[in-house]
Amino acid sequence: MGARPLLNRRLDGHGTTIFAEMSALATATGSINLGQGFPDTDGPEEVREAAVRALRDGRGNQYPPGPGVPELRTAIAEHQQRFYGLTYDPDTEILVTAGATEAIAAALLALLEPGDEVIAFEPFYDSYAACIAMAGATRVPLTLRAPSFRPDLDELRALITPRTRLLLINTPHNPTGLVLDPTELAAIADLAIEHDLLVVTDEVYEHLVFDGAHHPIAALPGMRERTVSISSAGKTFSFTGWKVGWVTGAPELVTAVRTAKQYLTYVSAGPFQYAVAEALRLPDSYFDGFRADLLHKRDLLTDGLAAAGFRVFRPAGTYFITTDITPLGEKDGIEFCRSLPERCGVVAIPNAVFYDNADAGQSLVRFTFCKRDDVLGEAVSRLQQL
Ligand SMILES: Cc1ncc(COP(=O)(O)O)c(C=O)c1O
Repeated sequence: MGARPLLNRRLDGHGTTIFAEMSALATATGSINLGQGFPDTDGPEEVREAAVRALRDGRGNQYPPGPGVPELRTAIAEHQQRFYGLTYDPDTEILVTAGATEAIAAALLALLEPGDEVIAFEPFYDSYAACIAMAGATRVPLTLRAPSFRPDLDELRALITPRTRLLLINTPHNPTGLVLDPTELAAIADLAIEHDLLVVTDEVYEHLVFDGAHHPIAALPGMRERTVSISSAGKTFSFTGWKVGWVTGAPELVTAVRTAKQYLTYVSAGPFQYAVAEALRLPDSYFDGFRADLLHKRDLLTDGLAAAGFRVFRPAGTYFITTDITPLGEKDGIEFCRSLPERCGVVAIPNAVFYDNADAGQSLVRFTFCKRDDVLGEAVSRLQQL
């Protein structure tokens, strides 16, 4: 095959995801996996039953329509109206995707030219860097620093150049648990308008805000026409394996994203789309109960990690906790996470892999708390051995 590497240079450095490595380690060592963010109990029974009914009734067993089944697009429109007062036309302003992951990929592949710059908060969710690279664009990190992880908006302004095309934001933010407040969102919106930038916003944890509230940036004046909003059923309804996500935005933006999306998966998850349509219409008691349950788990793991000697940054949202291992006499999160399964049978994720400026995240380690209380309790007692 000659000397040329098989993997193209855009994907160089984007080898196996850390989640694959750490989940394999969890299996090999029989450890408790607090690495990857997937719940260990399934979502609501009635939503599962809705999927079974769709399968049995032959709804979605063949290619669904490219933009998503009308029932789901209507339910997404109702959800945006109900929770945020945002109005979207199900026919022209909503696109169903294979999870938020495909929505992110399609948005970046559609909206970026090679050479464009994308400013994104680091630590970043790992698919952002890979998708920006696949689009041939350049990522420009805005580093969120402990202990508050709040973005420095002067720094953001200074990062904008004539090549900047897009701001990629994520609130609630994985892995820090940061929830952008209205002042920060307004400042980001002002910069986007002033410099005529597009905004892609990943809001998959929109229903997991414990302190404050979730505010979609698309709701701010002047933002609707330049914002692609992304969310997903995986996190909100605890069906991460179904991979049903969506994009909302102005018709021209959604058309552009759909153009890329149709050549990625074309369509996916037919019967599950009908089930998610029902899930989105669940009463407020579901959404309140889900958040209350996860809030209790947040506090359980926060207290446990603090008792085990970690410095804990209590997250305002998401189902992740970022910690600092320095008080344990450790400094390298990657080494720490590789040895943790052997040392005490728990798997976590080193935040350093989510940074370009790895120094900023070197001693930080992420744990997820979307697990059963007994599993969290056992993990905490194992971590006490440190
Ligand atoms: C910030 C963020 N965006 C997107 C995703 C992926 O969402 P989905 O499973 O719907 O593709 C995740 C999953 O962990 C995430 O944390």
